[in-house]
Amino acid sequence: MKAVAIRTFGSPEGLEVVDVPVPILAPGQVRIGTEAIGVGGVDAVIRRGTLATYGFREGHLLGSEVAGRVTAVGEDVDASWIGQRVWAFTGLSGGYAEQAAASVDDVLPLPDGLTCAQAVALGGSGVVAHFALERARFATGETVLVRGAAGSIGITAVQLAARNGAGSVAVTTSSALRGARLEELGATHVLNRSGEGGPDAPAGFDVVIDIVGGPQLPLFLDRLNANGRYVAVGVVGGQPPADFGMRLMDGFRRSLTFATFSSDTVPGPDRQAVRATQFADAALGDLRTMVDEVLPLDQAAVAHRKMDAGEVFGRIVLVP
Ligand SMILES: NC(=O)c1ccc[n+]([C@@H]2O[C@H](COP(=O)([O-])OP(=O)(O)OC[C@H]3O[C@@H](n4cnc5c(N)ncnc54)[C@H](OP(=O)(O)O)[C@@H]3O)[C@@H](O)[C@H]2O)c1
Repeated sequence: MKAVAIRTFGSPEGLEVVDVPVPILAPGQVRIGTEAIGVGGVDAVIRRGTLATYGFREGHLLGSEVAGRVTAVGEDVDASWIGQRVWAFTGLSGGYAEQAAASVDDVLPLPDGLTCAQAVALGGSGVVAHFALERARFATGETVLVRGAAGSIGITAVQLAARNGAGSVAVTTSSALRGARLEELGATHVLNRSGEGGPDAPAGFDVVIDIVGGPQLPLFLDRLNANGRYVAVGVVGGQPPADFGMRLMDGFRRSLTFATFSSDTVPGPDRQAVRATQFADAALGDLRTMVDEVLPLDQAAVAHRKMDAGEVFGRIVLVP
């Protein structure tokens, strides 16, 4: 079958289409004939080599979430899964492929009314947004900043904060058009990537959800209100400066909290329960999913170039 691998870390040109065997199922796994493959920010981060210290190597098959129909089940998995339309987390590898394997615990049936493309625009990122706000102890009436809001995590975080009664929801984005689209989803103030603009934006925030990280992270630590909570969920802008913790210490008397959050630390059944609720909401149109563009699998490098150029709102979806 056709799949996409990282030949060399770095630019999208380092991606290549390869022929590999159909995945052999371990006990507890299912195989999915992919109909939609999510191109996530995490794929770009892995491709660049940012996460090489976490054990990712060249030759890695990219892709962490797919949707399609179950074509086979491994030992200990009920055969009634075969033929079901599902979303699946493939564990940070093997998703950019015609067939993908996933643990049955990471597979969720799709409700009627939710397309495979919508499912991969929401499935992995929606739970990150939900639990990051929970980890930040976000409460009604508080001011929230979503940094890097134009990706799938941010798009859901903006909607959740708005519908749960945030006092204001500021966003950072590099594009006025994406800013306007985020306002349609509930953002109240649009800032540039450095946090400037939005003349009426609050000076400080009770909660910051940060998908970007990178060299400018300390600027945003400075924007926390007293008792503010900062939750770092992504590093699309790279790792923060090594001494960023000094900014927290400088704000000692404001009782600031900095936390990292990974959905890996949420028990699987809790993730699946939130995901099922979000899928149902999305099928009803109560939660919006953003599919930027649908491209053939062998154009994965084009998708990554668009992501690197900052031209994506939500998710690009690949189809085999
Ligand atoms: N915590 C978890 O459990 C978890 C789970 C999955 C993924 N992740 C992480 O989440 C991140 C991906 O999230 P995503 O798919 O929502 O993001 P994304 O779509 O890749 O990026 C979000 C936005 O960040 C802005 N951005 C991109 N590069 C930037 C840069 N160099 N400096 C400043 N802003 C930049 C872009 O918006 P503008 O151009 O409009 O500014 C982009 O739309 C990855 O770091 C991944 O590792 C975390």
